[in-house]
Amino acid sequence: MAHPVTRMRRLRRNETIRSMVRETRLSPSDLILPLFIVEGTGVREAIASMPGVERFSVDQVVAEAKRVADLGIPGVILFGIPNEKDGRGSGADAEDGIVQRATRAIADGVPDLAVITDVCLCEYTDHGHCGLLDGEEVENDPSVERLAATAVSHARAGASIVAPSDMMDGRVAAIRTALDAAGFDQVAILSYAAKYASAYYGPFRDAAESTPAFGDRRAYQMDPPNRREALREMRLDLEEGADMLMVKPAMAYLDILADARREFEVPLAAYHVSGEYSMIKAAGERGWLDADRAMEEALISIKRAGADLILTYAAAEIAEKL
Ligand code: PBG
Ligand code: ZN
Repeated sequence: MAHPVTRMRRLRRNETIRSMVRETRLSPSDLILPLFIVEGTGVREAIASMPGVERFSVDQVVAEAKRVADLGIPGVILFGIPNEKDGRGSGADAEDGIVQRATRAIADGVPDLAVITDVCLCEYTDHGHCGLLDGEEVENDPSVERLAATAVSHARAGASIVAPSDMMDGRVAAIRTALDAAGFDQVAILSYAAKYASAYYGPFRDAAESTPAFGDRRAYQMDPPNRREALREMRLDLEEGADMLMVKPAMAYLDILADARREFEVPLAAYHVSGEYSMIKAAGERGWLDADRAMEEALISIKRAGADLILTYAAAEIAEKL
């Protein structure tokens, strides 16, 4: 009887040996927690479509930010849900806008935590699109002006990284120019460079009240079947001055992340989006799988594919376990 000389199982025999040869490890410093900010005071409300995630008013979010920083998580990304919306998304760059106030409060109260702001118009427009409309068309260049103004107002409030998520052409260059002109040459840009028109954003749109009133985002977000195009998007954003690149969603796009890892030297982020999070939670609630293990496995797959940073709603619960 022939026996194998090479026995792969030798290095899997027990946890000590497995741990010795483990190639990828998650650490709290890999994780960024998204936070939803609402108007009012004393508000901490659950989001039905995202078990374990809450929306916070500005006065409540500082304590949460402190807890997150104490877990070793280096940053949070803020999404604002304003009471008032209009055609041009006026709330997006308002001096006392919801994100601007939350940014100031967190930057003051928890100075060691990096405040990243999501730069987009969809939470502030009454039509829910990520840019300005002409009829039913999302107009690129006027939208870029609004996005640049929004990024500057976030920087003025104390954001250390701005993250444009709109997918308009030329917005990274416009944001870089506007930030530099306003004296914020040290504020970094994390570009949502390869952001796909994905069904996995469903729970987020519910949470952020940013579902488009008509149509969809396929005229600006990427078409899911496209892989080479993602490299073009990422290369363009680097040429325009992006400091870091993001792929979004994460798990259905691990090939894109792996391509980006091979192609670029800059830090890479991946957004484990609301639908990816909630489907694991929902299956766990039904007893169909072990949600804690599935969540950790999901995040390790994203790191293994090449992400330096993972934006995830599970950041705090995972950091607690590590
Ligand atoms: C807005 C934005 C979206 C997400 C982040 N920024 C939604 C969208 O494009 O519709 C999705 C985040 C998530 O699903 O967790 N531009
Ligand atoms: Zn948007």
